[in-house]
Amino acid sequence: MHRRKFLKNSALTSAAVLGTAPLISCAETGTKTSQKISPGRPVTICTWDFGNATEKAWSVLNTGGSALDAAEQGVMVEEADPENQTVGLGGRPDRDGIVTLDACIMDSKSNCGAVMGLEGYVHAVSVARRVMEETPHVILAGDGASQFAAEQGFSRTDLLTERSRQEWMEWKKTSKYTPVINIENHDTIGLLTLDAKGDLAGACTTSGMAYKLRGRVGDSPVIGAGLYVDPEVGAATATGMGEEVVRTVGSFLIVELMRQGKSPEEACREGVHRIMKKNAGRTDFQIGFIALNTRGETGGYCIHPGFSYRQYDSKGHRNTPVESYLKS
Ligand code: GLY
Repeated sequence: MHRRKFLKNSALTSAAVLGTAPLISCAETGTKTSQKISPGRPVTICTWDFGNATEKAWSVLNTGGSALDAAEQGVMVEEADPENQTVGLGGRPDRDGIVTLDACIMDSKSNCGAVMGLEGYVHAVSVARRVMEETPHVILAGDGASQFAAEQGFSRTDLLTERSRQEWMEWKKTSKYTPVINIENHDTIGLLTLDAKGDLAGACTTSGMAYKLRGRVGDSPVIGAGLYVDPEVGAATATGMGEEVVRTVGSFLIVELMRQGKSPEEACREGVHRIMKKNAGRTDFQIGFIALNTRGETGGYCIHPGFSYRQYDSKGHRNTPVESYLKS
């Protein structure tokens, strides 16, 4: 078992050291967003309109790959895209100009792994998977996460692209030097998969809130908040302002609501409504949930118009608008 090997290796290393010293565009009320897929048919959905990510995940699922591999490989597409300024390479930095990544991954057996505040490694989701598979832990954070990534053989990369650096410099000139809390800066990718064997998995990865305080962690690497998978029920993931998702343990809530009999769409709606109840009168933040149940039914719901989820299944791929709490 990998974890045992890890412990053994860690013990040896320590001894040596000691010895020598983002649904679908949010659209009008009433849009029907749940879709039934035949049992046994794989399906993948992701937050926002990340078509390349679902296409990649689908290619894994459609060739007999596992839900876990599909989830990881799907979000890796966005992590590697320097044009996506909310995930991985090219992500917007924190207030001090440093790009830090948060990610997690979870499978049908409730195995999970996460990294928080990872610096210098593009594929935060893959590091999270190694945490899950190669260590006895669930979360590694900060310098420890980077050290682990190096030990696992990941290559170090400067994640701050010139475009993101220039924008940060501009922001510094005009801002009050506080983190930005608005809806434009949030495009976390959360991706859910159901494979042909009926196994579920999910992955969630982000560079977090643009210009956040150094050390800030959102919902995306927090199992139960940014992502949750339950083999008996389904899976859910979130995008938007992580603080509010963490407060409600959002993705866990959505899965539990599905367990009580709600459809994915109804569960996501209830989750958003609970958040809005705690935030009466506030409209300055965005949150969207998407969910997939064991029957392959999908759904989503968001606070503001403008959110969508991308789906890929045997019928092809499409971007499905979701209903929003606040109407345009
Ligand atoms: N949902 C991503 C974040 O708040 O960091």
